[in-house]
Amino acid sequence: MAVSRAHARRANLKRNSGAFVKRFDVVIAGEANMDLLLYGLPEALPTDRELLAEGMQFVLGGSSAITAHNLAVLGNRVGFLSLAADDVFAQFWRAQMENAGVDLSRVTAAGAGMTTGVSVLLQHAQSRRTLTWSGATAALRLADLDLDYLAAARHFHLSSYFLQSELRPDVPALLRFCRERGLTVSLDPNDDPSGKWSGDLLDLLGYVDVLMPNEREVCCLVHDDDFERAIETLSRRVPLLVVKRGRQGALAVREEERIALPALSVESIDAVGAGDSFNAGFLHGYLRGWEMERCVRLGNCTGAFSTMGAGGTQAFHDRAALAQFLVSQDERSFRDEPVEAHSPLQ
Ligand SMILES: Nc1ncnc2c1ncn2[C@@H]1O[C@H](COP(=O)(O)OP(=O)(O)OP(=O)(O)O)[C@@H](O)[C@H]1O
Ligand SMILES: [Mg+2]
Repeated sequence: MAVSRAHARRANLKRNSGAFVKRFDVVIAGEANMDLLLYGLPEALPTDRELLAEGMQFVLGGSSAITAHNLAVLGNRVGFLSLAADDVFAQFWRAQMENAGVDLSRVTAAGAGMTTGVSVLLQHAQSRRTLTWSGATAALRLADLDLDYLAAARHFHLSSYFLQSELRPDVPALLRFCRERGLTVSLDPNDDPSGKWSGDLLDLLGYVDVLMPNEREVCCLVHDDDFERAIETLSRRVPLLVVKRGRQGALAVREEERIALPALSVESIDAVGAGDSFNAGFLHGYLRGWEMERCVRLGNCTGAFSTMGAGGTQAFHDRAALAQFLVSQDERSFRDEPVEAHSPLQ
């Protein structure tokens, strides 16, 4: 394994030969929403009744935005490509992203009358309901993306593939462009609201270096309820498959190598955006060429840490608490390594 990895790293270094002059570590194209979280609701929700929640939070949402925000807080140079509506919600998410250090210089104005997307998340004791108005999210097109800006990154991450309905037909061209310009690519499908899980995502996998679904999504993507078999099928199609398993932790599969690590035990408020926060931690290590196990470990740390605050980013506002948490988990050196010195783990 060590020999083939060294070989792959050299090949990858070639692919990233512009790495030393790249402006961004990661560029993400996608959605920034607002998440309205209601806590303490009963599992059964009768209609035509006034049902009282026990708590509420209104926070930055959108898988792409959460991943970008948390990657920036971890110390990466992150660019974000998106459409911003002309409303107060967009002002809110812009301020939060800028505070984290995400570059928004190529976020463009959404069309007249378009609004920011909103997800209403109903938190029950054992489950959660997510009701989403996509808003400007679904309207982002390839023509809205500044491709020179994108090419100035070492890595491209795409999230919520099925929600990005206008971009979706052009994702093959987009990922081909990334490949040609030497970027590595990660993809988090998230849920398919249509429930169809059509095969166009599988057709993209030739351009994807890291596929990051959760456990349910693995099975849905290959239309197979048998988790082990679904893992086998998917892992044959991507160089690196990383599967998030909530309280069971995460699993990474690369060729014959398999790393499964349990989740950390923490006092959780909610698991909204835990997957996106896991992605941020995993990719932070991936971009620095860390061993796969260490990438999973940091992903589990950032996933768990996100559950300790409301939504996917609130916990990350307290950088000192994040640093302390990582030290307590023996992840001392996460900030010490500038990305330029490394080629991504392959
Ligand atoms: N309750 C929890 N306690 C500790 N760690 C957790 C908890 N929930 C999630 N995590 C961590 O976060 C990671 C990602 O969470 P999860 O499996 O919920 O992702 P997801 O389903 O993709 O989430 P998302 O809603 O963001 O799409 C897990 O692999 C685990 O490491
Ligand atoms: Mg997810």
